[in-house]
Amino acid sequence: MSTHERSDHFIGIDVGTSAVKAVLVDKTQEIVAQADVALATSRPHRGWSEQHPDLWWQAVEHVLGQFQQQHAGAMARVGAIGLSGQMHGAVMLDAAMTPLRPAILWNDSRSGAEAEALARRFPDLSRETGVMPMSGLTAPKLDWLAHHEPALRARLAMLMLPKDYVRLKLTGACITDMSDAAGTWLLDEARRAWSPTALGAVNIGKGQLPRLVEGSEAAGTVQTGLAARFGLCPGVVVAGGAGDAAAGAVGIGAINDGDAFLSLGTSGQLFVTTSSFRPAPELMVHAFCHALPGRWLQMGAMLSAASSLAFASDLFGAEVTALLAEAETAPPAAPLLFLPYLTGERTPHNDPDARGVLFGLTPATSRGDVVRAIMEGVAFSFADARDCLARSGTTITEAGVIGGGARSPLWLQILSDVLDVPLVRYDASARGPAFGAARLARLALTGEAAQEVCTAPKISATITPNPRDVAAYARRLPHFRALYQSLKSQFPPLRDAG
Ligand code: XUL
Repeated sequence: MSTHERSDHFIGIDVGTSAVKAVLVDKTQEIVAQADVALATSRPHRGWSEQHPDLWWQAVEHVLGQFQQQHAGAMARVGAIGLSGQMHGAVMLDAAMTPLRPAILWNDSRSGAEAEALARRFPDLSRETGVMPMSGLTAPKLDWLAHHEPALRARLAMLMLPKDYVRLKLTGACITDMSDAAGTWLLDEARRAWSPTALGAVNIGKGQLPRLVEGSEAAGTVQTGLAARFGLCPGVVVAGGAGDAAAGAVGIGAINDGDAFLSLGTSGQLFVTTSSFRPAPELMVHAFCHALPGRWLQMGAMLSAASSLAFASDLFGAEVTALLAEAETAPPAAPLLFLPYLTGERTPHNDPDARGVLFGLTPATSRGDVVRAIMEGVAFSFADARDCLARSGTTITEAGVIGGGARSPLWLQILSDVLDVPLVRYDASARGPAFGAARLARLALTGEAAQEVCTAPKISATITPNPRDVAAYARRLPHFRALYQSLKSQFPPLRDAG
């Protein structure tokens, strides 16, 4: 066998927020093994959300160790590894490439004032960087650091994204891919290059940022010692990879103009692939580079999707599956509203101070009613995102669904009814960013055509809107919207109250 024939297995690793998830995939794209390690988020102050980068690396060491122990034969055939990760996090390293502090994550709302100041100072720059400066994005966090932790800011030698810290550990190289760089507010999305104006705006040099590659390009090789430790052959390639949104798209083959899907992970995204850069920052649409060259995306980004159900599970001390069964019996579109803004919201409000609201409680409200209201509230926020995309000229007529939330038939029916579009569910529950990252690894090694590798999975169900409930939700949606508008001014004082 030639080396190339032997290197026909691929690993995808997604550095998520709730877990690091890894898949080991063979040459027929079957998943040979998967492993997850749960991650905790620390919230040392109201609105803060942090993870230490070493936590991610320890989790990656664990999953690779597990693969090595249980699938030694397959590990010896791995040709490339692809990385996916939670976007927008600020990983700040000193000159020795050591984290200066815990990473500040995508759902951290501390830098609202800095984001607003950037928007005021650079009113047109968002058309270049693809999105309004928002608290969760990377760039405003640098200004927050300058204001609140200036000694650390002065020592910043390298600013990275979460998955790229794992690459640094694996390969020793500082590299990121276009789709993850896209979410920093520092990239010129049309040119696929760092934006000198945006870099100047937050006072960072190009030398303090990783080198840019496409997601399907090679971006380093696994260091010899690590390869030996995990039973990998020398020279295993690490692909550019992608931010989790674009990696999820690659995983289900959403790589052609108009391909749309909903992601119901910790966060929620309504995602559409575009063949050109289509900025609409005034609508809070995120227009970013895709993980493949010559492709872009538009998305509505919501901060709390499946995490809203996880919140309910913690609050009630009950398993999500038990809560979902109770929600089945609750009536649809009841006058009980949930605003899913537990950590603020990006699309459509760009409001880091917004918080979750449950409105319309009565003595008769049951736990099932509350859980159903939570699922409906998330669906209404997807309707907001759909309308933002529509106003930018992008209409969605059918969409796939990925992420943990896609396992609930009830949630899919609610979403289909609220959005009034058919939704498609896929066969393998493991489809997701890690699988997309494994595909990018394969492309980086083999140079195959993306269309050949990034195919759509088999459809397991198509969920069609139920006209009666479509009408009921259409009547309820204006109340959901009005509730936020009437509470909007009440959120900032809550922040200031500490
Ligand atoms: C996308 C976003 C989230 C994070 C975490 O804009 O903020 O999807 O990538 O998953």
